[in-house]
Amino acid sequence: MTQTFSSTGRDTFVGTPRSRIDGPAKVTGLAKYAGEFAAPGLAYGTVVSSSIAKGRIAAIDSSAAEAVPGVLKVITHENRPRTAWRDKNFQDAVAPPGSPFRALYDDLIVYSGQPVALVVAEDFETARYAASLVRISYERQEPVTDLKAVRGDAYDPPMKREGIKPPPAPWGDADQAFGSAPIRVQGGYSMANEHHNPMEPHATTVVVEEDGTYTVYDKIQGVSNSHQYLVNVFGLKPDQVRVLNPYLGGGFGSGLRPQYQAFLAMLAAQELKRSVRVTLTRDQMWSFTYRGEALQTIALGAGPDGRLAALRHDAVQGTSTFEDYQEVIVNWSGVLYRCDNVALTYRVAKLDTATPGDMRAPGAVTGVFAIETAMDELAYATGLDPIELRLRNYAESDATAQGKPFGSKELKSCFTQGAERFGWAKRDPEPRSMRDGRELVGWGVATGIWESMMMQSSAIATLTPDGRLTVGNSTGDIGTGTYTILTQIAADTLGLPMDAVTTKLGDTRLPEAPVAGGSWTAASSGTAVMKACRNVGEQVFKLARAMENSPLANVDVDRAVFADGRISVAGDPGRSVSLVEVLQAARIDKVEAVEQAGPDKDFNQKYEAYTHSAIFAEVKVDEELGQVRVTRVVSAIAAGKVLNPKTARSQILGGVVMGIGSALEEESMLDHRIGRFMNHNLGEYHVPVNADIYDIDVIFVDEEDKANPLGVKGLGEIGIVGAAAAITNAVFHATGKRVRDLPITIDKLL
Ligand code: MOS
Repeated sequence: MTQTFSSTGRDTFVGTPRSRIDGPAKVTGLAKYAGEFAAPGLAYGTVVSSSIAKGRIAAIDSSAAEAVPGVLKVITHENRPRTAWRDKNFQDAVAPPGSPFRALYDDLIVYSGQPVALVVAEDFETARYAASLVRISYERQEPVTDLKAVRGDAYDPPMKREGIKPPPAPWGDADQAFGSAPIRVQGGYSMANEHHNPMEPHATTVVVEEDGTYTVYDKIQGVSNSHQYLVNVFGLKPDQVRVLNPYLGGGFGSGLRPQYQAFLAMLAAQELKRSVRVTLTRDQMWSFTYRGEALQTIALGAGPDGRLAALRHDAVQGTSTFEDYQEVIVNWSGVLYRCDNVALTYRVAKLDTATPGDMRAPGAVTGVFAIETAMDELAYATGLDPIELRLRNYAESDATAQGKPFGSKELKSCFTQGAERFGWAKRDPEPRSMRDGRELVGWGVATGIWESMMMQSSAIATLTPDGRLTVGNSTGDIGTGTYTILTQIAADTLGLPMDAVTTKLGDTRLPEAPVAGGSWTAASSGTAVMKACRNVGEQVFKLARAMENSPLANVDVDRAVFADGRISVAGDPGRSVSLVEVLQAARIDKVEAVEQAGPDKDFNQKYEAYTHSAIFAEVKVDEELGQVRVTRVVSAIAAGKVLNPKTARSQILGGVVMGIGSALEEESMLDHRIGRFMNHNLGEYHVPVNADIYDIDVIFVDEEDKANPLGVKGLGEIGIVGAAAAITNAVFHATGKRVRDLPITIDKLL
């Protein structure tokens, strides 16, 4: 922990490996998820999804469904209660520009799988059966879902997405420099559409309380976002709705925005004046957000020494017809490498699909795959070792931000320590030169990069006379370990054991915090919790000094040391008093504080903040079967201070596993004739399973950063970035085949 009250400071729990404190609840089933909360008289809703991608609903016949005993209501756009869509263009906290999708608003169909009816019944089975009886006829129009077909219609999004930097203006003359470069690499790169598929599908339970207020359990990465959405869309007062989600079964970005099941559950609860639960099925997880495929081209020009003379990276990505989703994709290429002639462009094209959305390291996963594969091609074209090539073009400042320096950047240490651990020096660069029995062996490397961000966040801390401390805010722990790190921070700040601290999250009655996303939660909520605890500590110190015969009389606050449940005097440990004694002597039932934390404007004016990684992959390829196994990965991470090496390592492991998925397996396939994702199940949409995962070794290099008082940069996303490139580069090294279109399925290697 950084210094709190005294010049000595303490670091008892922060920086040490700790198991997730929410782990036992999760593995014993005590943890409840949004679709598991019960309520008296709970009714169940099943969503009917559109079978066409574009057109209009001509007629809905719900009579057969309504005739089923136990069915309470079939809600469609025709009989939709008028309680909804008070603010019909309300944009949630992380919405891209445009007009958000509105369920059951009218007869228009804008994507396949769009919700068109909600069947509510006394029990789940009845609702599901009755939903199968709803007959809908459509006036069908031809959908356009093939990005390649509309590539030429791509446009610069007219409105910028908040928080997302558009591509910087070009500098130098990339095309001219490319034309005259002695060594050139040029290619097209693509990645498939991917869907998040957290273990917990989306669900919402709306409980109608006796006083007419609503308690909503929603699958969301930050309850404040759902709260604002429901309040505005239904024209409610903020205190009429409380949203909770104590636990999430994963999110990966699919839970950043409120989804239609939350809207439908509230709509039905209002209409029926009953508590309602709506749970999406696994196949309905393909009916909203996804990582949209992108078509990219890269042109690199270099001298024989490998120094970049030209860098051009162009990307086109799909968006829906109603929102301009943007994740930019190309900017990191300009951040990673020093080059005098750079052009970066990003455009979007409209498709008849749901709006794509953020999926773990949105944009970076896609763009860094392309640039880091192209850099490997350039390494071969120049005859340089891929690490040496990267070091020769190492950026010491951020060219996309007018050359601002990085707050910290220990990427060189990542290369050095990662290469050492991996044994990179033993690599024979010649493709097809390494074998293990009948398998070809390949070693590849890539860089990873992700923004280090901090968001405005608040938190509460409450100390009670029993010596217990409770801290919290409204953000969600999406499985990343937020409960645990906040507990560590709080315990260290006030010198308490971890088990004297209770951390509460995911409740709109707690101080407001943003969605858990963007890898910003440790910095944002962590700093807010630390500040709230410090405030409590200062209050307790004042009470202690005011005690009769106080051992701390006349002591300045900066000499107070909080440790072992006591306040003592630095350099004079004999003088101390316990926190419990102080509160009891003061005869108060609690000491409490709410504090705000936000980005450091002075720091951000001077510096740019990124996390970095060097990722090394070994693949073994069976050429006769086309099978690729990723047998070894070393991921060396520079992300500032690591609060908890155990949960931090787990984040990187999960990121690497997801990266193996995008490199080799994940692909949501559209049938363009009907505009529908066809493999909408986990039998046909492949994700890595345990048998696909071998050794993954994580290194955290030392890095000191001052963007926030904790010195953290965020770890939730960096683990996936670059993983796919390291694997494609290893596959090239093994086989001599350069695959530029992900995933590398068997057919691409035979
Ligand atoms: Mo993340 S894609 O910001 O949940």
